[in-house]
Amino acid sequence: MEIQGRTALVTGATGGLGAAVARGLAARGAKLVLTGRKVDVLERLATEIGGKAIPADIADPAQLDRLLAEAGELDIVIANAALPAGGPLSDFTVEEIDRALAVNLRSVIVLAKHTTEGMVRRGSGRFVIMNSLQGKVATAGSAIYSATKYGLRGFASALHQDLHGTGVGVSVVFPGFIREAGLFADSGAKLPPWVGTKSPVDVANAVVRAIERERLEVDVAPLGLRAGALFGGTFPSLGAFVTRKMGGHRIAQDIVAGQRDKRT
Ligand SMILES: NC(=O)c1ccc[n+]([C@@H]2O[C@H](COP(=O)([O-])OP(=O)(O)OC[C@H]3O[C@@H](n4cnc5c(N)ncnc54)[C@H](OP(=O)(O)O)[C@@H]3O)[C@@H](O)[C@H]2O)c1
Repeated sequence: MEIQGRTALVTGATGGLGAAVARGLAARGAKLVLTGRKVDVLERLATEIGGKAIPADIADPAQLDRLLAEAGELDIVIANAALPAGGPLSDFTVEEIDRALAVNLRSVIVLAKHTTEGMVRRGSGRFVIMNSLQGKVATAGSAIYSATKYGLRGFASALHQDLHGTGVGVSVVFPGFIREAGLFADSGAKLPPWVGTKSPVDVANAVVRAIERERLEVDVAPLGLRAGALFGGTFPSLGAFVTRKMGGHRIAQDIVAGQRDKRT
């Protein structure tokens, strides 16, 4: 699908990856609708790249409905906003669990329901979900996050099949560790030198590729990490054992500690 001239909604546009994706779509000639909660950051981005800024807390069903009403007809949706929701289950209040499910999972499903209806009527569109390699293989301290990200993968896979032949496609982008900006970079956690990273621009390019080439799933990670995710997803017990032996649990703990302030 060609991006030029299409109207694209980006959720989480105030965040590290969302801003990069919005810039990538703007460079391809999309008309942008940008959303997030930080009004000042959102308006600065809208001024920089052009587009309509609609602040909204998408955990709140009424604000999500208002966002959809104000956004109008959309050709492309990038469902990117998420909370890192890291830490052991025992560490979460039920309210925090509900909030993570509302932001990471419910909002995406509701967005897809309402926006793909119009796309199907018009016979074209693309719904893109920002996932994570933790939607393919779970690590320690990611029970809630991985529940939402695994859920999104299943949702996207089924929706893709339901929409077959309508002209409307679904894509899921799976970033690994992203440097420079976003929830991993903000955590301040350090990786061993043999664990590679990708940049926010790589993620933006992957989103553009997924839309233009109509790809269902796209990974954004070095080959070694992608192979590790494939292995861990296929052999979960063995994968967890190898991850533990390679110090993966310590890295996971550092990331979780650095994301503790992003529970709501
Ligand atoms: N960065 C990575 O290494 C990495 C790796 C794998 C996957 N991902 C995925 O990439 C996506 C973007 O993450 P990021 O790294 O850019 O994180 P980020 O910088 O923390 O940005 C998260 C975005 O989500 C928005 N958001 C959170 N709760 C919201 C709510 N209740 N209502 C509206 N917006 C809300 C934030 O908006 P406000 O700040 O304005 O509230 C922000 O724009 C996520 O889906 C994440 O799971 C990231």
